[in-house]
Amino acid sequence: MAGLTLRDVRKSYGATQVMHGVDLDIEDGEFVVFVGPSGCGKSTLLRMIAGLEEISGGSVAIGDREVNEVAASKRGVAMVFQTYALYPHMTVYKNMAFGLKQAKTDPAEIDRRVQAAAEILQIKDYLDRSPRNLSGGQRQRVAIGRAIVRDPDVFLFDEPLSNLDAALRVQTRLEIARLHERLKTTMIYVTHDQVEAMTLADKIVVLRDGRIEQVGSPIELYERPNNAFVAQFIGSPKMNFFGAADLAPTAATTLGRAISDKDNVGLRPEHLVPTDGAGAVVEGRLELVENLGEYALVHLITATGVEFIAKTEKPPLQEKGSTIGFGIKPELVHVFDKETGLRA
Ligand SMILES: Nc1ncnc2c1ncn2[C@@H]1O[C@H](COP(=O)(O)OP(=O)(O)OP(=O)(O)O)[C@@H](O)[C@H]1O
Ligand SMILES: [Mg+2]
Repeated sequence: MAGLTLRDVRKSYGATQVMHGVDLDIEDGEFVVFVGPSGCGKSTLLRMIAGLEEISGGSVAIGDREVNEVAASKRGVAMVFQTYALYPHMTVYKNMAFGLKQAKTDPAEIDRRVQAAAEILQIKDYLDRSPRNLSGGQRQRVAIGRAIVRDPDVFLFDEPLSNLDAALRVQTRLEIARLHERLKTTMIYVTHDQVEAMTLADKIVVLRDGRIEQVGSPIELYERPNNAFVAQFIGSPKMNFFGAADLAPTAATTLGRAISDKDNVGLRPEHLVPTDGAGAVVEGRLELVENLGEYALVHLITATGVEFIAKTEKPPLQEKGSTIGFGIKPELVHVFDKETGLRA
């Protein structure tokens, strides 16, 4: 078991710098999730921790040991990828045992570890099968099993569930949560999926263009994003933004604060409450309703042309084209500086 310390970690490919100095502390046993838009550097950072990618500057320490110069196989990390990369000609058992066999581990010890991992992942019945005769979810469990048998200090997952269908993704997500509960090993997990990030993480790291935008617990990032980027990245559908001129005339009174032209006002779809007339913070013309049964996504557009979404329990009764006003609890309003993007 070990925590991690990243100090000013940089990466360049030729003249192109893709990581611009990342500082991050990960506690022993923590479940940390990296999120960010495609190309922001999530996989690169993970691969640098794993030792699969050289770092161009800074330092990576696992526990107390700087590992910049340590080979991947000696870092005490095990990585699970999006594509399972199992050996097709070997049984599940042999796939899981392979790394240990290479390391000349005692056969009895190999068997003990493979059986234990198979038990945890409920794949005992498949040990003699070839991976080709397994479902995607089962294959991914074998890939996770292959990581478990190595008894690593740190697990690294790069979008391990994104090849699975929706139902399997939910199931395997729960299995990973249970696995962490049980092993209490440090885990770093890359995902595009909001729900995975919010439910699995002790700590979320939001990356953008090779830099950390914010680090915090899921609820901290949701309730108090430091800047407009994080505000729109965490939460689904994403936070609506309005300029002062886009809000209802009564907005300032309702919110109890002045809104200037320099402000970007952020209102989450799930916090907007339909009101009739008085107390509206924003008004919009009804364009489209997506009724999902348990809630509705109401698409609107302000008189100034800003599109926004309200998430409501029931679809609105009004006809398309009618104007609907929405209120919000003042404490749920986010204000960011338009220029810097920082929380105002
Ligand atoms: N071998 C390489 N040579 C040059 N540039 C690279 C190389 N590998 C990655 N990059 C660049 O580094 C940046 C970060 O890539 P990375 O794969 O880490 O992104 P990511 O956040 O994992 O994206 P995704 O969500 O799409 O997986 C990208 O701009 C990418 O084009
Ligand atoms: Mg990636």
